[in-house]
Amino acid sequence: MNVTAPLRCLMTATTLLTCAAIYCPTIRAADEFDKPPISYRESTGHNCVSGLQKSLDARTQTLAYEENQGYLKSLLSALNVPAESQMLVFSKTSLQLRRIAPRTPRAIYFGDDVYVGYCQSGDVLEISAVDPQLGTVFYTLDQRSTETPKFDRRNDNCMVCHASSRTGGVPGHVVRSLYVDAGGQPMFSAGSRTVDHTTPIKERWGGWYVTGTHGEQSHVGNLIVRTKRVEEPVENSQGQNVLNLKDRFNVDRYISPHSDIVALMVMEHQTLVHNCLTKANFATRQALHYEKTMNKILSYGDDNRLESTNRRIANAGDNLIEALLLVDEAPLTSAVKGTSGYADVFVKTGKRDSHGRSLRDLELSRRMFKYPCSYLIQSESFDELPRPMLDYVWQQLGQILSGTDQSRKFAHLSASDRMAIAEILRDTKPALPADWATTQDVKVSLVTP
Ligand code: HEC
Repeated sequence: MNVTAPLRCLMTATTLLTCAAIYCPTIRAADEFDKPPISYRESTGHNCVSGLQKSLDARTQTLAYEENQGYLKSLLSALNVPAESQMLVFSKTSLQLRRIAPRTPRAIYFGDDVYVGYCQSGDVLEISAVDPQLGTVFYTLDQRSTETPKFDRRNDNCMVCHASSRTGGVPGHVVRSLYVDAGGQPMFSAGSRTVDHTTPIKERWGGWYVTGTHGEQSHVGNLIVRTKRVEEPVENSQGQNVLNLKDRFNVDRYISPHSDIVALMVMEHQTLVHNCLTKANFATRQALHYEKTMNKILSYGDDNRLESTNRRIANAGDNLIEALLLVDEAPLTSAVKGTSGYADVFVKTGKRDSHGRSLRDLELSRRMFKYPCSYLIQSESFDELPRPMLDYVWQQLGQILSGTDQSRKFAHLSASDRMAIAEILRDTKPALPADWATTQDVKVSLVTP
């Protein structure tokens, strides 16, 4: 595997603490996001899980407990998370590592605003909720039947792995690819990498099961390394174009037998955008907070804009725009097709423009999306970005989509891609800024309703 940041570690992780130190390159005693204005740990979360807790407390909603998977099915349905999104990971890389192995993989499910982790016989369900103001908020739900299910907000050990350099230093989501032995232990001496939509397919899915077809393209999913060392080139012909996992472990223990390739790809895109949204939110609020203090100290007016504020907004904003517009997306060289039906479920909920087009429409033969602009631009986390960040992002997007910005970064967007994206946004984003840039190239008349 071509690794960006090889972790060379010869020790075997046995306890969570040892593993935390090994798995997470940066652990800080006091995180910047714990100070004002974010005050992460002290602030109340407002997200789909806190909302569900309110309904449970008010007894307007209940969760059903089942013998085998506990609250899993009921929780997914309460949070609107499709079972088709199931992905199975067998590397011991997360919290309940004793429960995870190639015969007992961990299952992960996700929707646009929440991710759920499940282990067979696990003590808890693990949840990372997308929170417009706090980025990602972590919860566990005890897998014991009770009249009054309670989500525990977890600010402790989740953060060790979920707020590190892998997430850009903010509380966020992680996806990794690495080689794994028959016990599920990562073989760190062979490297490891964080995965998002820019990761070449050939380096993806180490430690994950993958069901679906992808033609000639190869990946390192479905691979259990049975030699002491990883031999290059890696032989994984049995891991390609796998349609079912029945021969590998007991799939009946899960709510679905799939680990869908399209779900994996969408999740890898989504986690990157969510982390960039969090960074954009935090960086702007922190910069404005600092500016306010400085303006007071220096007796400047409240509206004096510091150069450093503009710089921080531009830095985080540019990263967000690149993620939204799928800059450097790994190209596909053959068609990709899943097995669970996830693609249909994903596309179905898309807001459509007057021509019937949606940002959720999938392409899946040369790239992921038909119109390469993330559907998360339609999410609450985007809409609730601080005003100066939103202004910056819309202004830059206007330049790019109108064709005024012709930088190489955006060369993957043809003139018709840019026009289609601008038109879809016009029809599906209710609160576009009235002055959103348009030129004769993109004939979109923008009005704030
Ligand atoms: C030892 C490191 C580690 C710890 C501790 C940890 N996680 Fe994770 N988590 C991971 C990794 C790595 C992944 C990516 C999938 C995988 O490898 O299992 C992940 C994935 C997840 C996911 C799926 C999507 C996402 O957000 O990345 C959820 C949900 C999740 N973890 C919840 C939690 C919660 C809740 C806690 C604390 C109670 C926690 N995790 C603690 C490492 C960790």
